[in-house]
Amino acid sequence: MAKVLVTGGAGYIGSHVVKLLGEKDYDVVVYDNLSTGTAKAVLYGQLVEGDILNLRDLKKAIDDFKPDAVMHFAAKIVVPESVKYPLLYYTNNVFGTLNVLEAMRCCGVNKFIFSSTAAVYGEPVEMSIVEETPFRPVNPYGKSKAMIEEVLKDFSAAEDFRYVSLRYFNVAGADPSCTIGETKKDATHLITMCVRTALGKREKLLVYGADYPTRNGSCIRDYIHVADLADAHVLSLEYLLKGERSDVFNCGYGRGYSVLEVVRTVRRVSGADFHVEYVNRRAGDPAVLISNPNKIKSELDWKPKYNDLDFIIKTAWEWEKRI
Ligand SMILES: NC(=O)c1ccc[n+]([C@@H]2O[C@H](COP(=O)([O-])OP(=O)(O)OC[C@H]3O[C@@H](n4cnc5c(N)ncnc54)[C@H](O)[C@@H]3O)[C@@H](O)[C@H]2O)c1
Repeated sequence: MAKVLVTGGAGYIGSHVVKLLGEKDYDVVVYDNLSTGTAKAVLYGQLVEGDILNLRDLKKAIDDFKPDAVMHFAAKIVVPESVKYPLLYYTNNVFGTLNVLEAMRCCGVNKFIFSSTAAVYGEPVEMSIVEETPFRPVNPYGKSKAMIEEVLKDFSAAEDFRYVSLRYFNVAGADPSCTIGETKKDATHLITMCVRTALGKREKLLVYGADYPTRNGSCIRDYIHVADLADAHVLSLEYLLKGERSDVFNCGYGRGYSVLEVVRTVRRVSGADFHVEYVNRRAGDPAVLISNPNKIKSELDWKPKYNDLDFIIKTAWEWEKRI
């Protein structure tokens, strides 16, 4: 079976992908500095503790393992933090990724899967976002990912290098086995914050803006179950291993739920009421962000299994009760 080096494989999404790779008998090495990830989440393969900012360590890990492909999850991911500390974000997400690419180039590894984000689209005018929707990132986090997408285009044009960039919408839920899930104490994603509030781990849930031009005034997002996203990664890997060309795919279900619909569903699924406080809108939060997932479905034959908000929330709730 092919060998895959996974940067950031001890984090929320990376650990789900590592689990799926392990179940499918891929040989895995995780390269992670454990800044937000945890060693316990790495259920398969070997964990090498290291930083993507350290080119020498990165080259050594790649040279020792000689992977067929690299999946790159390691990044800083909190939007407001990126506004406050832009250099931290550009250093980790741009410079760090350049290091990964340089280490791959030096070691002759030429297949790459990149964790991109819907944040590259910023505040799009379209209701349903396709891959050709122009980039208009509005914060350093989104800009750092958009910059790397430009680098990938140029690098793959210049060298024998192929990549798939996956633009995730709102990733949520936990592995259905509930052996792994979101562990970051300061996670800022809506469903995680809701279930933590329902469990009393947080005092209240803040809803940013109730006056958006949407069906109930709150923002609408496209929530994708993390296990379906993991599947998209393995399909992307198989696609590159077959020798296919570089490409970019949106990862979402193509339908949206408002913040208030999520809150209502968490209350129903958990059976717990919790305090919600309405505050002002945040800068840079578009009213609606919904992917058009037709391309990944037709080109990679991606068949999501968990397109069900109740199920997504149930797995997040079960996981959160355990930890
Ligand atoms: N969570 C989402 O909804 C979402 C949406 C769009 C895109 N993404 C992207 O998916 C990827 C994974 O996100 P996540 O939610 O799993 O985040 P996470 O913080 O749980 O995982 C990131 C992992 O990378 C590691 N890491 C960070 N900086 C590193 C460095 N300098 N060297 C080595 N390891 C480092 C962390 O320890 C952690 O294990 C990120 O690239 C993120 O931008 C996430």
